[in-house]
Amino acid sequence: MNLLRELQRRFAAALAPLTDDAAAALEMIRPAQDARFGDYQANCAMPLGKQLGKPPREIAQQIVNKLQVDDICHPPEIAGPGFINLKFRDEWLSQQLNTVAQDERLGVEPVAKPRTYVVDYSSPNVAKPMHVGHIRSTVIGDALSRTLRFLGHQVITDNHLGDWGTQFGMIIYGYRNFLDAETYKSQPVAELGRVYRVVRMIMDYHESVAKVAAGDQQLARLESDVAAADSAAQAAPQDKKLAKAAKRAAAQLTQTRNDLAETRAKIAGVDASPEQSQLVQQHADIQQAVLQETAKLHAGDESNLQLWREFLPKCRVDIQRIYDRLNITFDHELGESFYHDRLAAVVEDFERRQLSKPSEGATCVFLEGFDAPMIIRKQDGAFLYSTTDLATIQYRVENWAPDVVLYVVDFRQGDHFQKLFAAAKLWGYDQLDLRHIEFGTVLGEDGRPFRTRAGDTVGLEGLLDAAVARAKQIVSDNDDGAPGGPRLSEEQRNHIANVVGHAAIKYADLSQNRTSDYTYSEEKMVALKGNTATYLQYSYARAINILGKAGADVAQLRADDTPLEFTQDKERQLALTLLRFPEACDDVVVDYRPNLLTNYLYELATLLSEFYESCPVLRADTDAQRRDRLKLCDLTSRVLKLGLSLLGIDVVDQM
Ligand code: ARG
Repeated sequence: MNLLRELQRRFAAALAPLTDDAAAALEMIRPAQDARFGDYQANCAMPLGKQLGKPPREIAQQIVNKLQVDDICHPPEIAGPGFINLKFRDEWLSQQLNTVAQDERLGVEPVAKPRTYVVDYSSPNVAKPMHVGHIRSTVIGDALSRTLRFLGHQVITDNHLGDWGTQFGMIIYGYRNFLDAETYKSQPVAELGRVYRVVRMIMDYHESVAKVAAGDQQLARLESDVAAADSAAQAAPQDKKLAKAAKRAAAQLTQTRNDLAETRAKIAGVDASPEQSQLVQQHADIQQAVLQETAKLHAGDESNLQLWREFLPKCRVDIQRIYDRLNITFDHELGESFYHDRLAAVVEDFERRQLSKPSEGATCVFLEGFDAPMIIRKQDGAFLYSTTDLATIQYRVENWAPDVVLYVVDFRQGDHFQKLFAAAKLWGYDQLDLRHIEFGTVLGEDGRPFRTRAGDTVGLEGLLDAAVARAKQIVSDNDDGAPGGPRLSEEQRNHIANVVGHAAIKYADLSQNRTSDYTYSEEKMVALKGNTATYLQYSYARAINILGKAGADVAQLRADDTPLEFTQDKERQLALTLLRFPEACDDVVVDYRPNLLTNYLYELATLLSEFYESCPVLRADTDAQRRDRLKLCDLTSRVLKLGLSLLGIDVVDQM
């Protein structure tokens, strides 16, 4: 049972005579900030008082008079301006706890109205270096899918691989020009990665040269902007807005100068290497050539298609290795290439129904509220990312009939998705709930976007390896320092390090507010203290350890209906928090935020350790107390395990 929902249900009846919009008032029932005031607090009397022109305390009294919660709560108290404080009866909490102990789902009821979700996540560009951003999409998408599924929704996961883009033009070009045939035979993926990087380097060089060429003009413009903003600000020294604008202009100038300096340094780096500068000179037209290779592939050129068919599975092996390590699976992996044959029909449909307009040779969909149209076919006839995404929506609706589609993708694609959703609506998909589940950037400790050293999947695997190695160190230190000496074999240590290391990476991501940037810190994420997977896993193992030491028969413990008696605050607090697990699960899917579950689990683990401090389990005063406390340990371990599993994280019994 979701405690909050239960209270809301009861409040709804009491509020009915006072307002038509009970929903808003029900939102104002929340867990109490301070346990001294009770377990939950309802703050709806204040806004209702305002609306009705009556003193809030009077409204609060009216609500309380109607409210039927006697069976579960002590008589509600009205405090301050009109807060309604609610405190559950211990007997009721105890009874709920016993019910939950017998429930595999630990109190989480399946939703009454399951919906069908398509979750589009991970979706890296094959053959292009997969970066930490894709890890972020992967772990968030996986956690959301698991949680939605557990709540009883139908979930279809789909990895929308970028397997058809320009990067294939790049490796086809690289293959034809730079391949080392011997290495390709023995290590094809590494060799393709290498030729990709050679092509990338040459293209970057030429792009940089063009950027620097345009740079002087850009600087001149910015300098005059700064001069103008400065004199405007000086003319009106009081005007804060003008002063701010001058500052902003100056900052932009500095930024551009730095950018250009960096670009120049990049160029100089290449120029300084005889080998690289020869390459860039020999391949001066590379941009055009790469576009052509891609266009040929898309047009069905047999030799390019054959290369694509050869490369694709090889590249996917690399990505698959990461998925295997992270225990990620998909129901479908329909990449962009899958939709290629449907794109022309999509554009024709838009044209036929006059939803698009020709514009300078391209086909455009003009959307209300957007400055630029969405292009669905370029002047040269090529289709775009957007066209593929439209075809994908059509396919998913026809085949899977979803109610909701979640796109777990970097926030930088926000504009793309807003346009896509608007275009889909126009196209007739107005009943479909399309959502961009955006996330921020992963930063390095220098505050800049995080890059792995090699900048590719090998680099990503290196990150996983490093996290596992650190975890191994922590597990070993912990075990070496265990009272009574080490208990773990080398094999056990390795297994634990593996579970802990991978969990650390996932949890570090999931525990962040997804829309913020976060700083990747290997040291912090495997720390035994703080809001980390390691701490939660450790808490779990500790609970299991106590149950083991007590020789507890957990099946019997769970079946035992004897009411618990809370002799200490921490016991009751722990019990209440355990009963709030369903609330945490529900919270995750309101705005698709896994960090609401990590916050909850962290709170639970913290409380467990406080509970140990004040409530001896093995040396409890009485048998009954010992049984009650073991029950709390058992249930906490189960909630931790189930909660972590919804995040795609495993536990170990010893660490
Ligand atoms: N391949 C894209 C990228 O790596 C992400 C694709 C997201 N999914 C989608 N349906 N557009 O940036």
